[in-house]
Amino acid sequence: MRALVTGATSGIGRALADRLATRGYDLILVARDADRLATTAEEIRAARRVTCEVLPADLTAEDGLAAVEARLTTERDPVDVLVNNAGIGLPPGGYLGNPVQASMTLNRINVDSVLRLTHAALPGMTARRRGGLITVSSIAGFAPGTPAITYSASKAWATTFGEGLHHLLRGSGVTSTTVAPGFVRSEFHQRSGVSTAHLPDWLWLTPPVVAEAAVRGFERGTPLVIPGPAWRTAYAISRLLPRRWVRTGFARLMSRTSRKGANR
Ligand SMILES: NC(=O)c1ccc[n+]([C@@H]2O[C@H](COP(=O)([O-])OP(=O)(O)OC[C@H]3O[C@@H](n4cnc5c(N)ncnc54)[C@H](OP(=O)(O)O)[C@@H]3O)[C@@H](O)[C@H]2O)c1
Repeated sequence: MRALVTGATSGIGRALADRLATRGYDLILVARDADRLATTAEEIRAARRVTCEVLPADLTAEDGLAAVEARLTTERDPVDVLVNNAGIGLPPGGYLGNPVQASMTLNRINVDSVLRLTHAALPGMTARRRGGLITVSSIAGFAPGTPAITYSASKAWATTFGEGLHHLLRGSGVTSTTVAPGFVRSEFHQRSGVSTAHLPDWLWLTPPVVAEAAVRGFERGTPLVIPGPAWRTAYAISRLLPRRWVRTGFARLMSRTSRKGANR
C-alpha cells in the first residue's frame, strides 16, 4: 500500500507520514521546501523499511497542483491513500484586516487543492476497490465567529466534503475519514504570525496524538475523528448548545491567540 501525504515535512503531516510508515505504507511526501522533503524522506527511510518518494510542489500554484494530480493518476505504483493535510491560517487581522488575496490563497490550498487532488485520486481507487482518503480539517470548521472566518469556512467545507465522500463511497471499497483537531503544537501558528502564549497547556494536542487517532479512525472506516477527550467532549457539548453560544464562545477563546485578533 502507498500513501501520498501533503504537507508532510512538519506538524500533523510529518506525524501522519511517520505513523503510516510504521503501518508499512510506502510514501510520497509533498511540500514546497525540497531540501526539507529530502531530509524528511531520509529520516523515514532510516527508521522504517518503506520506500519514500518526494514531490516538491506548491499547492497554491497551478503547476504544483498539476504535478501532484499527475502522480495521483499514474497507474504504475498507484496511490492507495491520499492524505489531504497541507493547510494554512490567516495572518493576524483575519478576513477583514488582510487583503482579500490572503483569503484567496488560503482557499487555494485549504479548499481547491483538496477538491482537485481528491478528484484525481478517486477513479483509480474505486477501480481498484481499495484505499481511501484522510482529510485534515479543524474543529474551527464547527465554530464560526472568529475574525478568521475564511479559515473556519474552509474547514467547514473540508469537513462537509470529507464526510460527504464517506457517504458517497459506501460499498465502493474506498473510505473517507475526516480529522478535526483542536489546537496542535506545530509550525502552523508561527507561520501565520500568531501568538498562542495565552492559551492553557491542556488545550493542546501533539501531532503524534492527532496522527494516531486519524490513522486508527481511517483503518476502522470512521467518517469523522475528533482527537483528544477534551476536544471530543467540547464538540459533543457544542452540538447541544444554541448556535449563538457556539459562535461567541469560540470567538472568545480564539481572541486569546493574539492581541490583534484570532486567526484560526
Ligand atoms: N496546528 C493546529 O493547531 C491545527 C489545528 C487544526 C487543524 N490544523 C490543520 O492541520 C493541517 C496541518 O497543519 P500543521 O499544524 O501541521 O501545520 P505546519 O506545521 O505549518 O505544516 C504545514 C505543512 O504544509 C506544507 N505547506 C504549507 N504551505 C504549502 C503549500 N502552499 N504547498 C504545499 N505544501 C505546503 C508545509 O511545508 P512547506 O512550507 O515546505 O511547503 C508543511 O509541511 C492544516 O490543514 C491545518 O489547517 C492545524
